[in-house]
Amino acid sequence: MGRKFFVGGNWKCNGTVESLSKLVGVLNAGEIVSTDIVEVVVAPTFIYLPMVKDKLRKEIQVSAQNCWVKKGGAYTGEVSAEQLVDMGIPYVILGHSERRHILKESHDFVGEKCAYALSKGLKVIACIGETLDEREAGDTIKVCAQQLDAIKEAIGDNWANVVVAYEPVWAIGTGKVATPEQAEDVHLEVRKWLAENVSAEVAESTRILYGGSVTAGNCKELAKKPNVDGFLVGGASLKAEFIDIINSAQ
Ligand code: G3P
Repeated sequence: MGRKFFVGGNWKCNGTVESLSKLVGVLNAGEIVSTDIVEVVVAPTFIYLPMVKDKLRKEIQVSAQNCWVKKGGAYTGEVSAEQLVDMGIPYVILGHSERRHILKESHDFVGEKCAYALSKGLKVIACIGETLDEREAGDTIKVCAQQLDAIKEAIGDNWANVVVAYEPVWAIGTGKVATPEQAEDVHLEVRKWLAENVSAEVAESTRILYGGSVTAGNCKELAKKPNVDGFLVGGASLKAEFIDIINSAQ
């Protein structure tokens, strides 16, 4: 069986009860292709997760944007993987570049978070990607491999519930989308890395998403690439055009 297309909407730290209720209304009313063809997930901030989960059509799942690295307890301000599971949240995004760069989450810390979240039964959208300086230095693949190495170190061969999101930092929120060729080149390298470091089966079955300035206008060309298995969308996932991005599944 082929890899099912995956479209995630990362709502980041956006929205209010009013604006997200409207957005959920738009998503509930939109015509989307069958869930046999596409898996769709949206990620509001923690505080709106239960509301969005309750109001959203059942074809669309929800995801957290982060979780704590180990069992909950005396960790002020954190939300544990156990608590997400308790609330019926199936997915968590880990290692987003905004957390790696702004919150200084190291490769190892992201790896440990992935391992803990998986051990509690969450599915993980694990983000990787290089900065502009790293790309210009020719280090794109090296950086992605370092990030993947740290995840592998922590989770071993347990990739069945992992979706990898390649998000070049220079493309996030900038309007500078990677070309389909640039995305495909890196996705192919990520798949090779999986084959060499985990297994041929995991390389074949793992979805590799592209994220960074994806819009209704550019998603179709990106989706044509054989190793682009879907998208992780920021800004455009807060708009009605997210429906068109979901429907770029093929
Ligand atoms: O996680 C999605 C993201 O970082 C891309 O954001 O706004 O460039 O689509 P955006």
